[in-house]
Amino acid sequence: MTSLPASLGGRPSFAKKIQMVKPVLPDFSELSEDINRILRSGMVTKGEYLERFESIIADHLKVKHAVAVSSCTSGLMLTYRGLNLSGDVVVPSFTFMATISALVWSGLNPIFADVDPNTTNLDPEIAEAMITPNTSAIVAVHNFGNPASIDALIDVANRHGIYLIFDAAHGFGSVYQGEPVGGQGDAQVFSLSPTKLLITGEGGIVATNNDDLARKIRCGREYGNNGSYDSEFAGLNARMPEINALIGINSFQKLENAAITRNGTANIYHQALANLPGIGFQKVAPGNRNSYKDFSITIDPDLFGMSRDILAQALHAENIDTRKYYDPPVHLQSAYLQYYSGSPIQNTEWLASHSISLPIWSNMNPDISSGICEAIERIHKYSETIVRTSGH
Ligand SMILES: Cc1ncc(COP(=O)(O)O)c(C=O)c1O
Repeated sequence: MTSLPASLGGRPSFAKKIQMVKPVLPDFSELSEDINRILRSGMVTKGEYLERFESIIADHLKVKHAVAVSSCTSGLMLTYRGLNLSGDVVVPSFTFMATISALVWSGLNPIFADVDPNTTNLDPEIAEAMITPNTSAIVAVHNFGNPASIDALIDVANRHGIYLIFDAAHGFGSVYQGEPVGGQGDAQVFSLSPTKLLITGEGGIVATNNDDLARKIRCGREYGNNGSYDSEFAGLNARMPEINALIGINSFQKLENAAITRNGTANIYHQALANLPGIGFQKVAPGNRNSYKDFSITIDPDLFGMSRDILAQALHAENIDTRKYYDPPVHLQSAYLQYYSGSPIQNTEWLASHSISLPIWSNMNPDISSGICEAIERIHKYSETIVRTSGH
């Protein structure tokens, strides 16, 4: 067998495509009794499983309220409405588009702030410099599951008397200074979609210690109807159905293992790839745990020998799926250019054009991550020939 990379005619590292993500879901037999119970009861929404799921999550996150909603996006929209935000909101652009779309749907102006290139999270000093009298909140992200600089952001928000919300879409499994992310700031909003560590199918959780906000989220997920049928505000239908809550209760039992396995995969990636020149890793602060919802590296083409884009092509030939999170960054996406001031957002733009996310999931076999590292090593070894023949 030849040891040439597949892009130069060698045999692909994997016979079958290695996907970016494989959701870990229960066997039907594990849930069938409960599904029957739900269907027989007629309570397919707003029932006992929702209540149980919310209570398990509130205990786990150590928050007063964990309100389940239909998605992280709807949870963010209801949170912005529930806190009555107005005007400008400082937010990173190196994030998934939904962080920003929820702001725009709520009639708010995103003010794009740069991230720290090491953590890939919102830089508190840069965020503070962008606050004006028109700013009502900061929305920070635990990017790829790496806890944000929570204490520094709380200081900034307190100094300016504005709200602090976390888009915690990647946050289940993330630990900040010994505690799960969730209780810090005014609210944290999680996603439970199939790419996450804790899955309900589709779904989200708004975690908060603010009683009034929790009540408003509950009212807002019911169209804004507080029971009187006199709408308190314009709400949504953002309920989580019972079967999804049931899947969430089952998935929660596997959450800690999911985080441990993903950190093991990240270690394999780190150890093998750190031997190659020009590869950068997300830095996790001491005392924190990344959930590794995604495992993303940066490629410095001068040192590594090829660009991120050529590496992605070469990995594709090896049957390894990758993503370029987040390229383009949100401020350069068509729908959001109108909110962008036009001055470069340097770290964000550099990360967007140099980052590549590698496959990771909650029960990934170490042979797969090791095989991916070997493929990257081989591609690096032949970088000159690959670049020459790639047409770039
Ligand atoms: C950072 C971030 N925010 C928000 C969302 C939206 O989550 P959902 O699909 O649950 O609405 C995602 C989706 O993965 C995300 O990555």
